[in-house]
Amino acid sequence: MPDHLTIVDHPLVQHKLTIMREIATPTATFRQLLREISQLMAFEVTRDLPVTMRDIETPLCKMQGIGLAGHDPALISILRAGNGFLDGMLDLIPSARVGFVGLERDEETLQPMQYYFKVPQHLDKRTVIVVDPMLATGHSSAAAIDLLKRKGARNIRLMCLVAAPEGVAHMGEKHPDVPIVVAALDDHLNEKGYIVPGLGDAGDRMFGTK
Ligand code: URA
Repeated sequence: MPDHLTIVDHPLVQHKLTIMREIATPTATFRQLLREISQLMAFEVTRDLPVTMRDIETPLCKMQGIGLAGHDPALISILRAGNGFLDGMLDLIPSARVGFVGLERDEETLQPMQYYFKVPQHLDKRTVIVVDPMLATGHSSAAAIDLLKRKGARNIRLMCLVAAPEGVAHMGEKHPDVPIVVAALDDHLNEKGYIVPGLGDAGDRMFGTK
């Protein structure tokens, strides 16, 4: 396994992902499970957030407690499926700042082009967590991270539900400094760019558009 990749193999994550993969799982259940998984995965992806000690007083005595330090983290959703990760993550990190990156393929150059880009200020001082449920070819995640680096982001990690080996390899080539946290590393991409076995189109499944 590439050393920039972490698979969250917790039984609860795996159990919920299996239900999400099933074709018969309805939209509302899919969305609810995605919210729950995003919270479980958030433990892994935020493991090294900076902390500081501060003096507090309990009902019994004074002590030093641990709190988050520095600028609030930034969550960056790659539209549209990334939005499925946001609510659960924001339940856990309510002070996080949120950004959105929209990319579409230019039909002539076949390269991802941005159609929307709105991100929090001071990315250079924040832990930046990019969320994109399906890491397929890796081209849109890599392009989004290029844009974020141009805005100053340095401490970046990518959180995905399911990855294809092709996407992990592409990210490793383009952004070897960006750790990737996933719930599953699947077998391959098919000729249409879907992850196999995968779960289908994550956006369609979470928003009920098909
Ligand atoms: N995007 C999806 O939503 N699903 C895939 O399998 C690949 C890319």
